[in-house]
Amino acid sequence: MKGLKGRVAVITGGLGDLGYASAQRLVEEGCRVALFDLKLDDGALAKKIGCTAVQVDISNERSIEDACRFVETSLGPAEILVNSAAHFIFRSVDATIEEWQKILGVNVIGTSLVTKHMVPSMKKLGKGSIINFSSVSGFVGQPNFATYNATKFAIRGLTKCWAQDLAPFGIRVNSLCPGYIYTSAFVNSCKQLGLDIQEEDRKASAMHLLGRQGKPEEIASAVAFLASDDASFITGSDLLVDGGYLAK
Ligand SMILES: NC(=O)c1ccc[n+]([C@@H]2O[C@H](COP(=O)([O-])OP(=O)(O)OC[C@H]3O[C@@H](n4cnc5c(N)ncnc54)[C@H](O)[C@@H]3O)[C@@H](O)[C@H]2O)c1
Repeated sequence: MKGLKGRVAVITGGLGDLGYASAQRLVEEGCRVALFDLKLDDGALAKKIGCTAVQVDISNERSIEDACRFVETSLGPAEILVNSAAHFIFRSVDATIEEWQKILGVNVIGTSLVTKHMVPSMKKLGKGSIINFSSVSGFVGQPNFATYNATKFAIRGLTKCWAQDLAPFGIRVNSLCPGYIYTSAFVNSCKQLGLDIQEEDRKASAMHLLGRQGKPEEIASAVAFLASDDASFITGSDLLVDGGYLAK
């Protein structure tokens, strides 16, 4: 991909399935990458793929500020931000206030606070690419997904507003909207809802025109594309990487 070599990237949720696959791809493209994650990287996963792991709680502004300062001094100003971190709560009208506060605090407010503290370095550089993870769940209703889908719709709204605000500074902002990807989040959500994993995989596969769930590396390709100069005229958009889920 054009122009990625030597760029500094931050990926929130970088120790999660899709964040990690994206990090691996950006490193292959020549980026220097910091992984922000709530999880402690005790398996030295970041090191394995040539990244730096920083333990950050994106629902805590002080934690974000410390992490951004660390990136600026250790890797240099970041030009790419991938907002992949998410909390997964699947509830309908029965959601409690604690559940709402938790999921909004990470997926919407946390994403906004990381972006707030990353944008100054992009403004300094006069360029940047922000990639916000939404989902097909940011377009349609799904049974018992209200808490999660509300945050994924919100991400698409943030993307469109930030694209307007940041275009004058040469910063592009886009949403990446995966279909169902076979990851541990899929497995965990099945468990949370008490569903049989193999049966759910068959059902999820059938929801996509391509007859299967996606793979993390297929999402990573889209991240690399949106981050690169190959996407230089793309901002404020939703890139569906959904195997035709929404076309059905
Ligand atoms: N997996 C899918 O099928 C799928 C489909 C559509 C969209 N998405 C979106 O893709 C993104 C990545 O999903 P994934 O499948 O990799 O999930 P994942 O659970 O594997 O990764 C999410 C990561 O976010 C981290 N995280 C959670 N709360 C945090 C906090 N407060 N501060 C810092 N880090 C925190 C977790 O520790 C985890 O490593 C999410 O935004 C998700 O909504 C996933």
